[in-house]
Amino acid sequence: MMKPFSYVTTVNTRIRMSTPDDAPFVTAIENDADLKQLLGEPSGKSEESYRKFLSASKDLRFLIVEPLAGGFPIGLCGLLTGLSSDDCEVRVILTKDYWGRGLGTEVATALKKLAADIFPSKVLTAKTHPDNAPSLAIISRLGLVLDGTVSSDSRDNGWLNFRAPLATRTI
Ligand SMILES: CC(C)(COP(=O)(O)OP(=O)(O)OC[C@H]1O[C@@H](n2cnc3c(N)ncnc32)[C@H](O)[C@@H]1OP(=O)(O)O)[C@@H](O)C(=O)NCCC(=O)NCCS
Repeated sequence: MMKPFSYVTTVNTRIRMSTPDDAPFVTAIENDADLKQLLGEPSGKSEESYRKFLSASKDLRFLIVEPLAGGFPIGLCGLLTGLSSDDCEVRVILTKDYWGRGLGTEVATALKKLAADIFPSKVLTAKTHPDNAPSLAIISRLGLVLDGTVSSDSRDNGWLNFRAPLATRTI
């Protein structure tokens, strides 16, 4: 069973479990074509659909990023783990007003630590569009190494896969 998680803090942010009340924010992020330019299509899902999803969600796929000083969401992040998978994929999306301040690196680094704590036997992974320069910079800072290219019928075809190197497989 997964260790309980409520929140972690970084120097400038708080990363917490989402609640159904976060549905408007999650819907806005997931349907923002500009923000998702290098992530795939907007999801097209409704606020109601996300509200239901967040009510039932117990995993760490949709975590909310807030400024440490304030209570409003500025980003979505998470750790994606398949039931039968040894992988733990990290993702971070921040609203544009908060880009370029080092927060993406801060949040991703905190998620790496969280993954090591909660999923010690899983391998930290990430995948990104080859043109996503900020994402590539963060992945490099996390110490992940290139692990081939995604080949799929889906939006992520041609993206780059990264994973923790063998020597650090406990993340
Ligand atoms: C990826 C994302 C979270 C980065 O957030 P951020 O807070 O701006 O990241 P940081 O400030 O920590 O910057 C990370 C690095 O990227 C670099 N960077 C930022 N924008 C860049 C750009 N347009 N081109 C090249 N490098 C860039 C920064 O210089 C920084 O490196 P440095 O500290 O050595 O200068 C943010 O751009 C985002 O939400 N993008 C949309 C969603 C997405 O693509 N997520 C990643 C896939 S899961």
